[in-house]
Amino acid sequence: MLCIERAVPADYPVIADIDLEVMQANRLDPTSLEGRWWVARRGASIVGYAGLEYAGYGEVGFLCRVGVQPEARGRGLHRDFLRIREAEARKLGWTRLITYVHRLNVASLNNCVQCGYRAYAPSEEWGCDDAVYLYRDV
Ligand SMILES: CC(C)(COP(=O)(O)OP(=O)(O)OC[C@H]1O[C@@H](n2cnc3c(N)ncnc32)[C@H](O)[C@@H]1OP(=O)(O)O)[C@@H](O)C(=O)NCCC(=O)NCCS
Repeated sequence: MLCIERAVPADYPVIADIDLEVMQANRLDPTSLEGRWWVARRGASIVGYAGLEYAGYGEVGFLCRVGVQPEARGRGLHRDFLRIREAEARKLGWTRLITYVHRLNVASLNNCVQCGYRAYAPSEEWGCDDAVYLYRDV
């Protein structure tokens, strides 16, 4: 059975390892992962993770990372991670969430659109190359 819960510090190195595997980008520094991270567990294994940060202005949060191991995909975990972070944002008094997705990341884009995220053009680009910028008022 899959269950999502708040990550504890012992999970941070595992999050960094899975993130490296699924994102194939720079490895996250596990010691920097304090705060708002969630993991999806199947038994003792972590099969997905997601993070939420303050965007640095206004009442805005940033959906910073999400990843699901290939064998656990297609079961709605990404969607659940979005909803959990939206609920957390509301608890914190934040009114908007922003994120960016590479334009060819169809799975992530479709999922965000299906969950009510809308594309916007930032005044200054701050994401990866070829990013699509998304927001949702929560
Ligand atoms: C993107 C990712 C997080 C999706 O995780 P997931 O748990 O499989 O997603 P869900 O099961 O919640 O997906 C539900 C929806 O996502 C979309 N989706 C998921 N996989 C898809 C695919 N391969 N192609 C197109 N759309 C897809 C669909 O809209 C789907 O809804 P549907 O089932 O009603 O058609 C996962 O594929 C992943 O970890 N990818 C590598 C890391 C990554 O890209 N992270 C996001 C960076 S922005």
